Amino acid sequence: MNKYQLPSDSKLLQSDFVFGVATSSYQIEGGVAEGGRTPSIWDTFCKTPNKVDNGDNGDVACDHYHLWQQDIEMIQGLGVDAYRLSIAWPRIMPQDGVVNPEGLAFYEEIIDECHARGMKVYVTLYHWDLPQYLEDKGGWLNRETSYKFAEYARAVSAHFGNKIDVYTTLNEPFVSAFLGYRWGNHAPGIKGEREGFLASHHLMLAHGLAMPILRSNAPHSKHGVVFNASPAYPATSKDQGAADYSEAENYHWFMDPVLKGEYPQLVVERQLVNMPMILEGDLDIISAPVDYVGINYYSRDVMRYNENGDIEKVIQEGAEHTFIGWEVYPQGLTDLLVRLNERYDNIPPIYITENGAACDDHSVVNGQLNDEQRVRYFQSHLNAVDQAIKAGVRVDGYFAWSLMDNFEWAFGYCQRFGMVHVDYQTQQRTLKQSAITYRNTLLARAEENK
Ligand code: FCB
Repeated sequence: MNKYQLPSDSKLLQSDFVFGVATSSYQIEGGVAEGGRTPSIWDTFCKTPNKVDNGDNGDVACDHYHLWQQDIEMIQGLGVDAYRLSIAWPRIMPQDGVVNPEGLAFYEEIIDECHARGMKVYVTLYHWDLPQYLEDKGGWLNRETSYKFAEYARAVSAHFGNKIDVYTTLNEPFVSAFLGYRWGNHAPGIKGEREGFLASHHLMLAHGLAMPILRSNAPHSKHGVVFNASPAYPATSKDQGAADYSEAENYHWFMDPVLKGEYPQLVVERQLVNMPMILEGDLDIISAPVDYVGINYYSRDVMRYNENGDIEKVIQEGAEHTFIGWEVYPQGLTDLLVRLNERYDNIPPIYITENGAACDDHSVVNGQLNDEQRVRYFQSHLNAVDQAIKAGVRVDGYFAWSLMDNFEWAFGYCQRFGMVHVDYQTQQRTLKQSAITYRNTLLARAEENK
């Protein structure tokens, strides 16, 4: 049987290690004007010329809004323990202060179906689809949005309570803040150093404000937040400072306030003129204890100082890259996990909430698609997780990104991260070799653990 190979003593082979697949609302759902949903910043951004490759948008995406039942059945078929999805804020609160029962009902059916099929649900509240009506009032540049997020978290958790097994407040606040409000390559497309840092603080405040609400409405569920993190390496021995700074800004800036109750000094010093207004008490709110930390890992960064003393990324010419241009570097995942474990005392258990590869796998031939690069990618990264655990890091689960090909943000549909191929003309789903291998691994594990 063709499966991912792991050492027989691997914790990943034990039945309490959680295996899953992940998606997010805007990337798969479509149905953007159905069920009472109003536009998010991504609907607006996609309709702005030259923002998204090929002018793609999420109007239809994988049509999961209509095909969810067959999709959940397919997920169960993979033998996973859990499904990580996100809720679209503008389906739940299509207007300021208004809770939409139809939006809640859509997700309730999905959650019930997952449970009926023996899978747990990991639900992210914010995977980047901010209601446009909030952006119209400043979006994440407006401190008020943090309080609006808390209201939304209240609406969801009051309705679902413990039924959602694991809640995630935010997915990758780095991307929301910096790609959305600093560099402008994601919605809402704002460019400004101060804006980026201001948005980041409001996002972290939103997380912190939501935590006690989630805990009181869902006392038996787990609550936490998901960060993207790329470990950085110096290009030469003179560049260690560049690598250190890169990690500080890219993920310590987001994780330290949660796990240490402070912003990293390296960033505060270098970005002094761009520092957001931090009110007294904010860091206490943000540093409320979390039950787990989610880590999304794709690649590493090699950094150097250029002639002007600025920090820049060095492309690793000879190395293997995926179709999207990201270097394949599994050792980075082990290193990252070990570094996190060292940096944060008593770090809560970690879930790898995303890991995966975009490959050039556009055509299904005779019902088959041999995505051999992705198979190798998953194999090497599962080993990397195993190595980190053996080095003493507590990792409790692994979610592949992604269940199926979907709307890859500014890259549109041309970048395919799925284990399952989606034909966007027919909405036909086809398991790629990586999915079959995942399934075989999980079925064999279940058999062994009987
Ligand atoms: C992450 C996102 C996810 C997907 C992958 C490739 O940054 O969380 O939605 O786009 O990258």
